[in-house]
Amino acid sequence: MCGIVGYVGGRSAQDVVIDGLRRLEYRGYDSAGVALVHEGSVEGRKKAGKLANLEKAISEDPLPVSTIGLGHTRWATHGAPNDVNAHPHRGYGGRVAVVHNGIIENFDDLRARLEEEGHQMVSETDTEIVAHLLELQVDSGEDLTTAMQRVCRRLEGAFTLVAIDGQDPDRVVAARRNSPLVVGLGEGENFLGSDVAAFIEFTREALELGQDQVVTITREGVQVSTFDGRPAEGRAYHVDWDLSAAEKDGHDWFMRKEIFEQPRAVADSLLGRRTRSGALQLDEMRLSDQELRDIDKIIIIAAGTSFYAGLVAKYAIEHWCRVPVEVELSSEFRYRDPILDYSTLVVAISQSGETADTLQAIRHARTQRSKVLAICNTNGSTIPRESDAVIYTHAGPEIGVASTKGFLTQLVACYLLALYLAQVKGTRYGDEITQVLGQLEAMPDHISEVLAKADQVYDLAREHVGSRSVLFLGRHAGYPVALEGALKLKELAYLHAEGFAAGELKHGPIALVEQGLPVLCVVPPRGRDQLHDKMISGIQEVRARGARTICLAEEGDTSIEPYADVLLTLPRVPVLLQPLVAVVPLQLFACELATAMGHDVDQPRNLAKSVTVE
Ligand code: AGP
Repeated sequence: MCGIVGYVGGRSAQDVVIDGLRRLEYRGYDSAGVALVHEGSVEGRKKAGKLANLEKAISEDPLPVSTIGLGHTRWATHGAPNDVNAHPHRGYGGRVAVVHNGIIENFDDLRARLEEEGHQMVSETDTEIVAHLLELQVDSGEDLTTAMQRVCRRLEGAFTLVAIDGQDPDRVVAARRNSPLVVGLGEGENFLGSDVAAFIEFTREALELGQDQVVTITREGVQVSTFDGRPAEGRAYHVDWDLSAAEKDGHDWFMRKEIFEQPRAVADSLLGRRTRSGALQLDEMRLSDQELRDIDKIIIIAAGTSFYAGLVAKYAIEHWCRVPVEVELSSEFRYRDPILDYSTLVVAISQSGETADTLQAIRHARTQRSKVLAICNTNGSTIPRESDAVIYTHAGPEIGVASTKGFLTQLVACYLLALYLAQVKGTRYGDEITQVLGQLEAMPDHISEVLAKADQVYDLAREHVGSRSVLFLGRHAGYPVALEGALKLKELAYLHAEGFAAGELKHGPIALVEQGLPVLCVVPPRGRDQLHDKMISGIQEVRARGARTICLAEEGDTSIEPYADVLLTLPRVPVLLQPLVAVVPLQLFACELATAMGHDVDQPRNLAKSVTVE
């Protein structure tokens, strides 16, 4: 939530900041703003709505030329998404400008104290108080770095803050607690961003910051300290993707581009996972084989699409490793007082690595002595940093708010984890593991086969403009696919969409079925005859009540033909791996339907890519 950019160097700060905000806009798009230091004061513009509104405001009322500044794109928490609540916020005299991502939990208290002292706030945000507090410090003679350290010590909650002082043309100061911030290291210039996309055009050298740290960037360098003012160090790393990876590549939406990148993303996530002898290896697995053998329960925690990846993982891990697996929404996890100990492995799945609910859940798990393994797509993010082990997915940057390649690569990581545990615990023979690895390695081609039939799905999607409700049915590993298909449609097309386990339908949801209701059915491969046949019974039940059945079934499955109003074929793959191909038509369906309805697919209303508030 909220994208933040800071810059100091020799270029036009306005251009660098606006370019950075464009690439971070997926994080929030309720408003955008920019502030620059110019001749002893701060000059800024801010505007409700998307970045385009800010750019228009600047073109009508240009800002002065400056080489130091900051910017923000907002996902509203405190206060309506209007011009006044847009960031940057200014101190009482307009000397300091601040942008913020996160929530300052004790802001009511701090605001009341400031108001008692005669300060007047103009916005409803929790951020404005920080601008006042910083300005009090710099007005009393402190430099902005010391001011930031002092103020942060008084703040509770989660925050990334970036500030400039109109009377200091040489430094941008930032702080982070439980909220993302990375530094981009340049020559004679330095950058700050919520993620590396903000500055990838200019540098691929980055510095990861720790918790409760303040960073000062100048043209000459970068200094990191703790909130107490003690010197600290960040971790330098090289970003291994470039600007083109963050651009649309000729597609209308990032989401569509990302759907079509899935064969590559899956292949990349499988790369380098085998030793010379063919055994499975996971490089970032920092847990010893003995620690893994001692595990007698696994709890998977995640949110949204990542949660559905966790549901698929349960089927794979329990089948291949014979270890019980619970899958829990990270927002619920710590509030139910879960039973955890050293023999429980907690697996946190997060594309962004910054989801606050999941982060708090792993912190809770670690206080209970459980080992935490993260499955994550974002190098340098907080969740893998705070975990005992990590399996990185290699999806590349995912910009579309709706997760697609992030999901498929999470599935790959879950399968790899399951197979690795089976290898270590000896619950599967080596040749069985090798066989599944071979099947996994064939999946990029199968995904390409599904993508080659995208036009058929697009035609179908366009027929559904005007539908008020769509249901999704699945069984076994197809059930999470049904849930994911429904989520994609909710978030992109703003339609009532629900996913059900097909067997559960008769216990209530079938009452929703009426004449013409579209029901998308994920049919399991025929290898599991009982499962397949039970699914067909479910399809018959809804069709008998007037539903329009759209069936996704493996090619050659003629048994489904009498019950399918529309049949979309999937390549023949093993039952546990079917989610990797079955979800793709559902992603295409949601993307095209939302496009036909005139919605912004990459930036759906009310959503943000990375949910860094609880
Ligand atoms: C998916 O399309 C979502 N936009 C959302 O559900 C997402 O998967 C969820 O917020 C979790 O994010 P994470 O994987 O970055 O933790």
